[in-house]
Amino acid sequence: MKLVFLGDLVGRSGREVVLNSLEKIKTELKPDFIIANGENAAGGFGITKSVCEELFAEGVDVITTGNHVWDQSGTASYIAQEKRLLRPINYSNPQMPGQGAVSVQLKDGRRFIVMNVMCRLFMHENLECPFRTAENYIKQFSLESSQIAGIFVDLHGEATSEKKAFAIYLDGKVSGVIGTHTHVPTTDAQVLSGGTAYLTDAGMCGDYNSIIGMKPNEPLARFLGSTERKRMQPALGEGTLSGALINIDDKTGLAQSIFPIILGPHLHNQWPAH
Ligand SMILES: [Fe+2]
Repeated sequence: MKLVFLGDLVGRSGREVVLNSLEKIKTELKPDFIIANGENAAGGFGITKSVCEELFAEGVDVITTGNHVWDQSGTASYIAQEKRLLRPINYSNPQMPGQGAVSVQLKDGRRFIVMNVMCRLFMHENLECPFRTAENYIKQFSLESSQIAGIFVDLHGEATSEKKAFAIYLDGKVSGVIGTHTHVPTTDAQVLSGGTAYLTDAGMCGDYNSIIGMKPNEPLARFLGSTERKRMQPALGEGTLSGALINIDDKTGLAQSIFPIILGPHLHNQWPAH
C-alpha cells in the first residue's frame, strides 16, 4: 500500500496548498491513505473543526497534531468525538480528551494504525516517555498479521537525535516514522535496516518566505530582544507542499521505499516517479 504524509500545515497558505494539491496527489501518486499534521493549520496556532472537516472532505484520512493542539477553543470537545483527529499519545494527563492513536479500516478490509507521539527534548510539555509509550501501544498489533496493513508514527519533536533514536528503537515494529514540528524538511529519508521508513522532518506545508511559517517581524524582534509582545502572524504568500510517500509491503507491513514530496515556489521540488 501507499501512504502519503504531509508535514505541518501552517495557516491559510498551508491549507490552500494542501487542498489545491490533493487532486494531483490522488491522481498521480494513488495513495491508499493520506495523513496530514494540522497543529498549525488555524491561523498558525491549533486546529478547528471546520479546518478538519475541509481536509477530511478532500481525502485526508487522519490529522495529527503536537504541542499546539489545544491552541484553539473548541478543539477539546471536537477531538473527544472525532477519532480521526489525533493528539500526542504520551501526554501525562490521563484525563486529557482525545486519542493518540487510531485504527482505520481500509477499503480492502485491513486496518491501518496511525499514532501521534511527542518528543521531550526542548519541548516543555508534560509527557511520558515517548519510546516506552509507543512500544507499549503497538504491542497489541502484529505487522505480520494479514489484518494489519501498517503502523505509522507522526513523531512531533525538535531534536534530530531523539527522533532518530525513536525510529531505531521501533525499527522493524512499525512501517514508518516521520518527524514533524521543525517546519523544515530534512534530506535523510531512508528505510532503516529493520524495514521502518524514516524521515527526521517532513517540513511544513506553507509559505517558506517566513520564519518557520510566521511573518518575520515579530519573531525577529524577539530574537533582537524586543520587550513588546505582539501576536505572531502566519505568512500569507503562496504555500509549498512538503511531505513524503511511503510504499509499504502488503505481506510484511514494512517499508519498501520512502520518497520526499516537495512541490511549490520556494524549495527544490521533488515529486515521486509514478
Ligand atoms: Fe509543533
